[in-house]
Amino acid sequence: MKAIENILSRNSISKLGNPHPTSEEMDLIYKAALRAPDHAWLRPSEFIEITGSGLDKLSNIFQQYAIENIEDINEQKITKYKNAPYRAPMIIVLISNIKKHNRVPDIEQLLSTAAAAQNILLAIHALNYGAIWRTGLFALNDKIGKYFNLNKNQKILGYLYVGKPTTKFKKIPEIDIEKYITRWK
Ligand SMILES: Cc1cc2nc3c(=O)[nH]c(=O)nc-3n(C[C@H](O)[C@H](O)[C@H](O)COP(=O)(O)O)c2cc1C
Repeated sequence: MKAIENILSRNSISKLGNPHPTSEEMDLIYKAALRAPDHAWLRPSEFIEITGSGLDKLSNIFQQYAIENIEDINEQKITKYKNAPYRAPMIIVLISNIKKHNRVPDIEQLLSTAAAAQNILLAIHALNYGAIWRTGLFALNDKIGKYFNLNKNQKILGYLYVGKPTTKFKKIPEIDIEKYITRWK
């Protein structure tokens, strides 16, 4: 697929089944991720790749986190969070490992990991799989990292659910690009 066509047709897919990309395909996907712009090459982006019984481990983390951190938790919510990881055969946890640097603030490193996430989504699409970036309760906060045994500098930016689309692609809306652009000439 041509690069521009791949970008324009990328679509987040919420209904995902087997198979997930092979380890050879994942190598390409991570290489694409790690070509994201990265000020001073600090390499902040890190990933946890979860498949198979790893999904049970993630399910336990989501359940435990919900019980310990949600005030109005109930059985119904616990079941929902416990089942969440099984919506795809592979989940990639997006982590930004923030390094102290005199010219590169934390936000630039978080943005670099966001760019890496988009490279992953595009590479996955180019390889004919589907994915969706989810955050929910379990990302972008200072409490979740310890459930993964991460240190304080490692921030979870979300979860890429990955697999083969099990539904038709949704129609991509036409966007009136002019609404979003100012031209200075
Ligand atoms: C940082 C971030 C977090 C997101 N979190 C969620 C989420 O928790 N649940 C969800 O359904 N969509 C979430 N989304 C939106 C989807 O990933 C997706 O972008 C959206 O459904 C639009 O589909 P499209 O990417 O095909 O345009 C998130 C997107 C971003 C960028």
